[in-house]
Amino acid sequence: MSVHRAWRTVVSRGIAQPQAVPARAEKVTATVGLRRPTQPGTTMLTRLIYASEITLPLTASTVQDIVDKARAANQRRHLTGMLAFDSRSFLQVLEGRRAAVSEVFCRIVSDPRHEHVQLLELAAVDERLFAGWSMGFATADAHGRDTFLRFSGVDQFAPSTMTAGGALSLLRELAAR
Ligand SMILES: Cc1cc2nc3c(=O)[nH]c(=O)nc-3n(C[C@H](O)[C@H](O)[C@H](O)COP(=O)(O)O)c2cc1C
Repeated sequence: MSVHRAWRTVVSRGIAQPQAVPARAEKVTATVGLRRPTQPGTTMLTRLIYASEITLPLTASTVQDIVDKARAANQRRHLTGMLAFDSRSFLQVLEGRRAAVSEVFCRIVSDPRHEHVQLLELAAVDERLFAGWSMGFATADAHGRDTFLRFSGVDQFAPSTMTAGGALSLLRELAAR
């Protein structure tokens, strides 16, 4: 006897109520419906590098405030990285879960304190390069022309003209000092 016929027999003999089937089915559907869809890759370790320019001159205390708040917020999200600034341009690297990097980058892009945000790199990576920094900070203009010439085609801090590899090497050099 098929399962379907056996069930009909049970129901017709009054052993079970017919409505028991839809009631159970509804409950299962409702439980499954609560589960979030799987989003592969959202936890993948990701690195993002961008360059931008200030919209208006920033005081030292405003820059310090950006760094302090970024450190606290990044620590909560297990984000690490480095920010370099030379009074005109920013260069920043962010590392962490892809979803966290994406979310913070969206907020950074909408921040009115800077503009012309250019993405230099977005890559899945095997290891953090700034693991000890919730957000390291360096004033790029304190460094000599030789440093900029090593990692770019010009002798000034011009992050939007750099390759991702050059930008990363410069940020690592600044973090090591
Ligand atoms: C150059 C620059 C770098 C920033 N870096 C970070 C960062 O690493 N992490 C972060 O949470 N916010 C950072 N911020 C601040 C964000 O843009 C934003 O102000 C902050 O996340 C608060 O967002 P909300 O006002 O939408 O809450 C940065 C802002 C600027 C201008």
